[in-house]
Amino acid sequence: MPILTKDTLEFISRSPDQTLRVGARLGRHLNGGDILALEGDLGSGKTVFAQGIGMGWGASSRLVSPTYVLVRRHRRHQDALELYHIDLYRLTTAAEVEMLGLEEVIGAPETVSLVEWPERHMGLFPEDRLWVHLRILDEYRRSLVFRAQGDRHQALLNQFRQELLGL
Ligand SMILES: Nc1ncnc2c1ncn2[C@@H]1O[C@H](COP(=O)(O)OP(=O)(O)OP(=O)(O)O)[C@@H](O)[C@H]1O
Ligand SMILES: [Mg+2]
Repeated sequence: MPILTKDTLEFISRSPDQTLRVGARLGRHLNGGDILALEGDLGSGKTVFAQGIGMGWGASSRLVSPTYVLVRRHRRHQDALELYHIDLYRLTTAAEVEMLGLEEVIGAPETVSLVEWPERHMGLFPEDRLWVHLRILDEYRRSLVFRAQGDRHQALLNQFRQELLGL
């Protein structure tokens, strides 16, 4: 059931495929500078959701889990935008984060950022962002709660809500 407050939207997915499709609907609205923080336990569906986003956005390469690579960059053919799929799970120290230059990437004007385990390094995130909480309900059901923080991502959430629910 959707939570009908201005800055929040809740969606219950009933299958990996549905999570992909919801991701795709969000992905087609993403622009340079957009930031999606994907927070949730192991196996909650962050990567599946990110893959759907990549499909909707039109990434030329398929998104796979960045758990071991930490950062993967994707492009699409129609413009110069880049999509960064980042996993902070294994990044333990601030020095490692600095070495990867993530501060310059997240929120950059030509860049869309999808970040798994964002809570590991909160300092990387500007105030304006879309926070997504994924929660395991049972084997196949996942709760996805979207919370817009800041005007830019409120506008994005509004578009997404319209796309998803026609509201
Ligand atoms: N409704 C659903 N939505 C998404 N994934 C689901 C759903 N139901 C079951 N699954 C399964 O849950 C798993 C989600 O894996 P995924 O790699 O996306 O998790 P993750 O949150 O990225 O984990 P990690 O923290 O290890 O990166 C997959 O095996 C997928 O098939
Ligand atoms: Mg993952």
